[in-house]
Amino acid sequence: MGKLIPEVTLTDGVTLPVIGLGTYSLKGNAGVNAIVGAIETGYRLLDSAYNYENEGTVGEAVKRTRVPREELRITSKLPGRYQAYDKAVTAIQESLYRANLDYFDLYLIHWPNPKQDNYVEAWQALIDAKKWGLIRSIGVSNFLPEHIERLIKETGVTPSINQIELHPFFNQAQQRKWHEEHNIKTESWSPLARASELLQNDTIQKIAERHNRSISQIILRWHYQLGAIGIPRSSSPDRQIENISIFDFSLDETEMSLISGLTRPDGRLKNQDPATYEEF
Ligand SMILES: NC(=O)c1ccc[n+]([C@@H]2O[C@H](COP(=O)([O-])OP(=O)(O)OC[C@H]3O[C@@H](n4cnc5c(N)ncnc54)[C@H](OP(=O)(O)O)[C@@H]3O)[C@@H](O)[C@H]2O)c1
Repeated sequence: MGKLIPEVTLTDGVTLPVIGLGTYSLKGNAGVNAIVGAIETGYRLLDSAYNYENEGTVGEAVKRTRVPREELRITSKLPGRYQAYDKAVTAIQESLYRANLDYFDLYLIHWPNPKQDNYVEAWQALIDAKKWGLIRSIGVSNFLPEHIERLIKETGVTPSINQIELHPFFNQAQQRKWHEEHNIKTESWSPLARASELLQNDTIQKIAERHNRSISQIILRWHYQLGAIGIPRSSSPDRQIENISIFDFSLDETEMSLISGLTRPDGRLKNQDPATYEEF
């Protein structure tokens, strides 16, 4: 089967599909079945994290699918409580043991936790783990420009990607522009705003009717046209297919602006501002 989802190439040469599968809360046998189904449907990028406690589920799906390991892109993330260098190295190894994998394609620092102030040490651990062949591409999540600037200044290594909260209620225009200027790929978490009121929005509904598409498809196409990698989560086979069936239509500039215009200063879903929010 040919590739259904276009790919982008990160600065380190690693390729990623422009849409992946979020796996938060996909666990156990139901989770394995949902993930195997998604892979069979055409998904190749899977987004997990140590703190989701489902690296085992993701690894089991990788084992069960007929799609070869090298065609998949598996992501996990380092939790805040393991940011000290030695703990970070051990956590990366533990992540691999849990997933029963030899390497991750992408590994991210989950949150900067600036009050704890250990994220540069954590970054050094990711740099070394990449040298040891445990990770192919290293990036961050929820980092503000000031945090990334410090990583670059103190280690000389720029993250390949920053996974941030991004949806029409919080379009991250400034942060995305900053990423572009620094050749960092943007990845959108909660791209559908967790199926909140966004999926009833009148503005997007009108655009969806014009294109004969669902609201979710319009939102995911918006992410794609912004140049961001969306990682929508769905446990439903039908919605998984729906969410990647977005490559045969396009939004014009007016439609893109209307959707971007839904953003608001307090648009974060849970007020998780990386300048102050900490997650361990
Ligand atoms: N780095 C971070 O700090 C961070 C934070 C949050 C999330 N993430 C990652 O981002 C991923 C995605 O974010 P998320 O899971 O929070 O939210 P999301 O992907 O925006 O929304 C997921 C919800 O949308 C529903 N849904 C999916 N497709 C749909 C469709 N076509 N129509 C209607 N409903 C649909 C799903 O229900 P069904 O399953 O019933 O379809 C689920 O309830 C996570 O799973 C995780 O991997 C990262």
